[in-house]
Amino acid sequence: MHKQTIQFEYEVFESIEELTTEDKKLMEDARKATALAYAPYSKFKVGAVAILNNGEIVKGSNQENASYPVGVCAERTLLGNAATLFPEVPIKSLYISYHNTKGESNEPVSPCGMCRQAISEYEHRTHQKIRLIISGMKGKVFAFEHASLLLPLSFSSVNLLGG
Ligand code: THU
Repeated sequence: MHKQTIQFEYEVFESIEELTTEDKKLMEDARKATALAYAPYSKFKVGAVAILNNGEIVKGSNQENASYPVGVCAERTLLGNAATLFPEVPIKSLYISYHNTKGESNEPVSPCGMCRQAISEYEHRTHQKIRLIISGMKGKVFAFEHASLLLPLSFSSVNLLGG
């Protein structure tokens, strides 16, 4: 037996002011996209914005349902929009923000496990890793070189169909 370690680094910015002009604008767009959420049950509004390899920008927001499990997260709404509007075009970077009713939105929140799996599948199907940038409505910003860093030892089509 031996032990293995998985570790990764990510960037921490004190605010969006430290980002590049493009990253700052797209994070501002993700913050604005929280207003597009339909979240009457959780009141937790999530906005997502992606820039694709072809320069197009795609948005997503969480869409809830009275039958709770039917609701869809912002990230998966975005991925469905991107795949439908621009099939086969890889996503360069994905920006996520959120807003809750308590008005506490100054810490980045990471995508849920199901969304991590969905983002990982998107990386596989488009043969390109996705940069991930997360932040609340204000405060710190975290940037991950690849979204899949957040899902180590992930399950994918390679396992299912064989490498
Ligand atoms: N939500 C997202 O949109 N993305 C995530 O990664 C975490 C959770 C949504 C789902 C639900 O509408 C609300 O936030 C509360 O869980």
